[in-house]
Amino acid sequence: MNTAIILAAGQGTRMKSQTSKVLHKVGNKYLLQHVIDASHNHVETLNVIIGDNSQSVKAAVKDSKINWVLQKKQLGTGHAVQQAIPFIEDKSICLILYADVPLIESQTIEELINKAHSTGFSLLSVVLEDPFGYGRIIRDSNGLIQSIVEQKDASKAELKIKEINTGIMAVKGSLLKKYLSELKPNNSQGEFYLTDIIEKAVKDNVSIASFKCENKSEVMGINDKKQLSQAERDYQLNLAQGFMSKGLTIMDQSRFDCRGNLNFGNDCIIDINVVFEGDNDLGNNVVISPNCIIKNAKIGDNTQILANSIIENSSIGSNSSIGPFARIRPDTHIGNHSKIGNFVEVKKSSILNNSKVSHLSYIGDSKIGNDVNVGAGVITCNYDGSNKHQTEIKDGAFIGSNSQLVAPVTIGKNATIGAGSTITQNAPDNKLTLSRNKQSTIEKWKRRKKK
Ligand code: UD1
Ligand code: CA
Repeated sequence: MNTAIILAAGQGTRMKSQTSKVLHKVGNKYLLQHVIDASHNHVETLNVIIGDNSQSVKAAVKDSKINWVLQKKQLGTGHAVQQAIPFIEDKSICLILYADVPLIESQTIEELINKAHSTGFSLLSVVLEDPFGYGRIIRDSNGLIQSIVEQKDASKAELKIKEINTGIMAVKGSLLKKYLSELKPNNSQGEFYLTDIIEKAVKDNVSIASFKCENKSEVMGINDKKQLSQAERDYQLNLAQGFMSKGLTIMDQSRFDCRGNLNFGNDCIIDINVVFEGDNDLGNNVVISPNCIIKNAKIGDNTQILANSIIENSSIGSNSSIGPFARIRPDTHIGNHSKIGNFVEVKKSSILNNSKVSHLSYIGDSKIGNDVNVGAGVITCNYDGSNKHQTEIKDGAFIGSNSQLVAPVTIGKNATIGAGSTITQNAPDNKLTLSRNKQSTIEKWKRRKKK
């Protein structure tokens, strides 16, 4: 049986924010949620240590395994872990994690737990070029861990050590309880240091299994906005590389952002500065040109999303083309072999197969059939100032440029609407309907002269 203790009670003052530190986001996911997701499958309970002002954290992060544990005063990392003691069983392996160290991976946690199962105590370290600020790992001549010395308490020689304590460890419940009860705040900060339990374990002849984390971003802590931004980049690069190894073409991995989940088929190409949000699903041979925002979209095979387009909560069929500069708003469904061109906004509408809306249009609350051609500048007037109404355009219809379709209205099958018409009544199948003043020329009219 395993349990996790996640430290999240710190104030996070260096973030200079009204938002709790652990509710800042990487990849649009709360820092605390990252840690929960990485550890969730390895433990039965997630004891999250929070401070007095953590109502917002409780409200934002939900998980059936969470046990919220209050640490009234922040008296140090050891004191924080002590608060969870009533919930720890002697036989369990206790995993200690930090809500502001979000990129820790599930695999690393698994390895750490496995090591603790054999020795009772395991510790994750990392070698840093610049170890300033971190607790240093002190080893004996045989390379066995002896203790951890904090930056503020270290001697000159100790400060030269580059292997540092990540703070992440797994300890058998009975041992953790025993050493925590012996902690004293005998240090420069007057705090109960969790790290002091290592020396106590060594004195107790417990051998500490350590392993060095190869990927530094996994153990990077976030204290300020600069580190938050660095974590975001590291996270995105890691995602991009994972996707590339599965065959996705990414034009520039440093200009790729996925804030959610991305599924893709074969031979998809993602150009620069594309932002994916939420859950997205791409078929085969989908090409996404630069500067697009794709949010909760399903995009079919061989479809192209051209530059500067936005798609949100919508589906696009196969062999279609969207953009450049198109905006597909929520609840839109575009079929196969269809085209939405530049400066076209579509909202809550369905457009079936082989239909085209190529230029400068607004299509809202509409049902458009197959083989429809909507001319340049056509607007569905869906709003009467109080309520929204539907427009229906049946198969094969042709809507002349610069027409307004005042909803509720239906355009019949194979109907043609003359350019520049304002259509306020249903238009019949197969006929030309138009509403325009007859063109006339006033022969005697002259332009005024300037006085
Ligand atoms: C700690 C370690 C140090 C390690 C470093 C890695 C100790 C004494 N030192 O130092 O060896 O190299 O992490 O990042 O453990 N927290 C609480 N309650 C408290 C105090 C802290 O919940 O009373 C939480 C903080 O919110 C934070 C985490 O514990 O998430 C670490 O605390 P912090 O004070 O930042 O420890 P460091 O000085 O960074
Ligand atoms: Ca810290």
